[in-house]
Amino acid sequence: MTASALKTFLDHFADVLDNDARPVSRSHALRLRRMAENLPQVSDASPSRVPIQAACETELATYAVQSPLASALADLLPALHITRSKSYLANPPSGDFGENYGYGVICGPEGGPPALIRDPEIAFGLMFLGPKTHYPLHHHPADELYYTVTGPSFWRAGTADWTGHGTDAIIHHPPWLPHATLSAERPLVLLYIWEGDLDTDAAFIPDTVTADTALVSVGLDAT
Ligand SMILES: [Fe+2]
Repeated sequence: MTASALKTFLDHFADVLDNDARPVSRSHALRLRRMAENLPQVSDASPSRVPIQAACETELATYAVQSPLASALADLLPALHITRSKSYLANPPSGDFGENYGYGVICGPEGGPPALIRDPEIAFGLMFLGPKTHYPLHHHPADELYYTVTGPSFWRAGTADWTGHGTDAIIHHPPWLPHATLSAERPLVLLYIWEGDLDTDAAFIPDTVTADTALVSVGLDAT
Protein backbone atom coordinates (compact mmCIF):
# COMPACT_ATOMS: atom_id res chain seq x y z
CA MET A 1 0.00 0.00 0.00
CA THR A 2 2.68 2.50 0.95
CA ALA A 3 4.75 1.75 -2.17
CA SER A 4 1.83 2.31 -4.52
CA ALA A 5 0.75 5.45 -2.63
CA LEU A 6 4.32 6.73 -2.80
CA LYS A 7 4.54 6.10 -6.54
CA THR A 8 1.28 7.97 -7.08
CA PHE A 9 2.56 10.86 -4.97
CA LEU A 10 5.86 11.04 -6.88
CA ASP A 11 4.07 11.11 -10.23
CA HIS A 12 1.72 13.91 -9.16
CA PHE A 13 4.53 15.91 -7.56
CA ALA A 14 6.47 15.63 -10.83
CA ASP A 15 3.40 16.77 -12.75
CA VAL A 16 3.11 20.06 -10.84
CA LEU A 17 6.85 20.70 -11.08
CA ASP A 18 6.70 20.17 -14.82
CA ASN A 19 4.18 23.02 -15.06
CA ASP A 20 7.00 25.39 -14.06
CA ALA A 21 9.56 26.39 -16.71
CA ARG A 22 12.46 26.96 -14.34
CA PRO A 23 15.31 24.47 -14.81
CA VAL A 24 15.36 23.62 -11.10
CA SER A 25 11.70 22.54 -11.25
CA ARG A 26 12.23 20.50 -14.44
CA SER A 27 15.31 18.86 -12.96
CA HIS A 28 13.42 17.80 -9.83
CA ALA A 29 10.46 16.59 -11.91
CA LEU A 30 12.75 14.35 -13.95
CA ARG A 31 14.36 12.93 -10.84
CA LEU A 32 10.99 12.23 -9.21
CA ARG A 33 9.70 10.49 -12.35
CA ARG A 34 12.77 8.26 -12.46
CA MET A 35 12.29 7.50 -8.78
CA ALA A 36 8.64 6.57 -9.40
CA GLU A 37 9.56 4.30 -12.31
CA ASN A 38 12.28 2.54 -10.34
CA LEU A 39 11.06 2.88 -6.78
CA PRO A 40 13.74 2.39 -4.11
CA GLN A 41 13.01 0.06 -1.21
CA VAL A 42 10.30 1.56 0.99
CA SER A 43 11.01 1.43 4.73
CA ASP A 44 8.82 1.69 7.79
CA ALA A 45 9.24 5.33 8.81
CA SER A 46 7.90 4.81 12.38
CA PRO A 47 4.78 6.94 11.91
CA SER A 48 4.35 9.77 14.40
CA ARG A 49 2.32 12.94 14.70
CA VAL A 50 2.67 16.57 15.85
CA PRO A 51 0.12 18.81 17.65
CA ILE A 52 -0.83 20.88 14.57
CA GLN A 53 -1.29 17.81 12.35
CA ALA A 54 -5.04 17.28 12.82
CA ALA A 55 -5.84 20.84 11.73
CA CYS A 56 -3.54 20.54 8.70
CA GLU A 57 -5.01 17.16 7.75
CA THR A 58 -8.52 18.61 7.82
CA GLU A 59 -7.35 21.48 5.62
CA LEU A 60 -5.57 19.11 3.22
CA ALA A 61 -8.73 17.01 2.88
CA THR A 62 -10.63 19.99 1.50
CA TYR A 63 -8.03 20.35 -1.28
CA ALA A 64 -7.82 16.63 -2.02
CA VAL A 65 -11.16 16.78 -3.83
CA GLN A 66 -9.65 19.01 -6.55
CA SER A 67 -5.92 18.28 -6.35
CA PRO A 68 -4.52 14.83 -7.19
CA LEU A 69 -1.28 15.80 -5.42
CA ALA A 70 -3.11 16.84 -2.23
CA SER A 71 -5.03 13.56 -2.38
CA ALA A 72 -1.85 11.53 -2.84
CA LEU A 73 -0.18 13.36 0.05
CA ALA A 74 -3.20 12.73 2.29
CA ASP A 75 -2.94 9.01 1.47
CA LEU A 76 0.75 8.99 2.46
CA LEU A 77 0.36 10.87 5.75
CA PRO A 78 -0.47 7.87 7.98
CA ALA A 79 2.87 6.28 7.01
CA LEU A 80 5.01 9.36 7.72
CA HIS A 81 7.10 10.28 10.72
CA ILE A 82 6.05 13.86 11.37
CA THR A 83 8.42 15.56 13.75
CA ARG A 84 9.83 18.88 14.96
CA SER A 85 13.39 20.14 15.00
CA LYS A 86 14.92 19.71 18.46
CA SER A 87 16.83 22.97 18.07
CA TYR A 88 13.63 24.83 17.13
CA LEU A 89 11.84 23.40 20.18
CA ALA A 90 14.78 24.32 22.42
CA ASN A 91 14.91 27.88 21.06
CA PRO A 92 11.54 28.59 19.44
CA PRO A 93 11.29 31.80 17.41
CA SER A 94 7.98 32.53 19.15
CA GLY A 95 6.24 31.16 22.20
CA ASP A 96 3.71 29.01 20.35
CA PHE A 97 5.85 28.05 17.34
CA GLY A 98 6.36 24.48 18.54
CA GLU A 99 2.61 23.89 18.70
CA ASN A 100 2.15 25.25 15.17
CA TYR A 101 4.83 23.59 13.11
CA GLY A 102 5.97 20.17 11.98
CA TYR A 103 7.61 18.42 9.09
CA GLY A 104 7.90 14.94 7.71
CA VAL A 105 10.61 13.48 5.50
CA ILE A 106 9.39 11.33 2.63
CA CYS A 107 12.85 10.88 1.11
CA GLY A 108 16.15 11.85 2.70
CA PRO A 109 19.71 10.78 3.39
CA GLU A 110 20.76 8.14 5.90
CA GLY A 111 21.21 9.67 9.34
CA GLY A 112 18.31 12.09 8.96
CA PRO A 113 14.81 11.75 10.44
CA PRO A 114 12.91 8.53 9.62
CA ALA A 115 11.87 8.50 5.95
CA LEU A 116 10.09 6.17 3.55
CA ILE A 117 13.01 6.10 1.12
CA ARG A 118 16.67 7.05 1.34
CA ASP A 119 18.70 9.06 -1.15
CA PRO A 120 22.09 10.69 -0.53
CA GLU A 121 21.51 13.58 -2.96
CA ILE A 122 17.99 14.83 -2.37
CA ALA A 123 15.53 15.27 0.48
CA PHE A 124 11.84 16.03 0.19
CA GLY A 125 8.78 15.99 2.36
CA LEU A 126 6.07 18.16 3.84
CA MET A 127 5.82 21.01 6.26
CA PHE A 128 2.84 22.05 8.39
CA LEU A 129 2.25 25.53 9.78
CA GLY A 130 -0.69 26.50 11.95
CA PRO A 131 -2.69 29.68 11.22
CA LYS A 132 -0.82 33.00 11.45
CA THR A 133 2.47 31.25 12.08
CA HIS A 134 5.68 33.05 11.16
CA TYR A 135 8.62 30.83 10.25
CA PRO A 136 11.19 33.60 10.55
CA LEU A 137 14.17 34.48 8.42
CA HIS A 138 16.64 31.63 8.13
CA HIS A 139 19.19 30.25 5.71
CA HIS A 140 20.97 27.03 4.85
CA PRO A 141 23.44 25.78 2.26
CA ALA A 142 20.92 23.46 0.58
CA ASP A 143 19.06 24.62 -2.53
CA GLU A 144 15.37 24.65 -1.59
CA LEU A 145 12.11 24.53 -3.48
CA TYR A 146 8.67 24.82 -1.88
CA TYR A 147 5.30 23.91 -3.38
CA THR A 148 2.15 25.36 -1.83
CA VAL A 149 -0.37 22.51 -1.51
CA THR A 150 -2.79 24.74 0.42
CA GLY A 151 -2.96 28.47 0.94
CA PRO A 152 -2.79 31.36 1.13
CA SER A 153 0.72 32.03 2.44
CA PHE A 154 3.33 34.79 2.41
CA TRP A 155 6.97 34.52 1.46
CA ARG A 156 9.98 36.80 1.52
CA ALA A 157 13.59 36.30 0.53
CA GLY A 158 16.68 38.46 0.62
CA THR A 159 15.72 42.10 1.12
CA ALA A 160 12.33 41.85 -0.60
CA ASP A 161 9.06 42.44 1.25
CA TRP A 162 6.34 39.83 1.73
CA THR A 163 4.71 38.31 -1.38
CA GLY A 164 1.42 36.47 -1.18
CA HIS A 165 0.82 33.14 -2.92
CA GLY A 166 -2.18 30.90 -3.31
CA THR A 167 -2.03 27.20 -3.99
CA ASP A 168 0.09 25.60 -6.71
CA ALA A 169 2.95 28.09 -6.33
CA ILE A 170 6.61 27.12 -6.55
CA ILE A 171 9.05 29.16 -4.48
CA HIS A 172 12.78 28.65 -5.04
CA HIS A 173 15.52 29.57 -2.56
CA PRO A 174 19.08 29.17 -3.87
CA PRO A 175 21.73 28.18 -1.29
CA TRP A 176 22.17 30.65 1.58
CA LEU A 177 19.44 33.04 0.42
CA PRO A 178 17.71 34.26 3.61
CA HIS A 179 13.97 33.54 3.51
CA ALA A 180 10.86 33.45 5.67
CA THR A 181 7.35 31.98 5.42
CA LEU A 182 4.08 33.09 6.98
CA SER A 183 0.71 31.36 7.01
CA ALA A 184 -2.49 33.37 6.91
CA GLU A 185 -5.84 32.53 8.49
CA ARG A 186 -5.79 28.82 7.56
CA PRO A 187 -3.50 25.92 8.47
CA LEU A 188 -0.87 25.55 5.77
CA VAL A 189 0.50 22.42 4.05
CA LEU A 190 3.66 22.73 1.97
CA LEU A 191 5.96 20.37 0.13
CA TYR A 192 9.70 21.02 0.07
CA ILE A 193 12.71 19.69 -1.81
CA TRP A 194 16.30 20.11 -0.63
CA GLU A 195 19.28 19.44 -2.86
CA GLY A 196 23.00 19.87 -2.23
CA ASP A 197 24.24 20.07 1.36
CA LEU A 198 21.60 17.99 3.14
CA ASP A 199 23.54 17.68 6.39
CA THR A 200 23.64 21.31 7.53
CA ASP A 201 20.48 22.43 9.33
CA ALA A 202 18.75 25.75 8.76
CA ALA A 203 19.80 28.56 11.09
CA PHE A 204 17.70 31.55 12.08
CA ILE A 205 19.19 34.95 11.28
CA PRO A 206 18.35 38.43 12.62
CA ASP A 207 15.53 40.23 10.82
CA THR A 208 13.91 43.64 11.01
CA VAL A 209 10.77 42.79 9.01
CA THR A 210 7.84 41.47 11.02
CA ALA A 211 4.83 39.50 9.88
CA ASP A 212 2.47 42.35 10.76
CA THR A 213 2.25 44.09 7.38
CA ALA A 214 1.49 40.85 5.53
CA LEU A 215 -1.22 39.81 7.99
CA VAL A 216 -2.85 43.24 8.03
CA SER A 217 -2.85 43.27 4.20
CA VAL A 218 -5.31 40.37 4.23
CA GLY A 219 -7.39 41.81 7.01
CA LEU A 220 -5.94 39.79 9.87
CA ASP A 221 -5.03 41.10 13.28
CA ALA A 222 -1.25 40.87 13.55
CA THR A 223 -1.35 39.89 17.23
FE1 LIG B 1 14.46 27.02 4.03
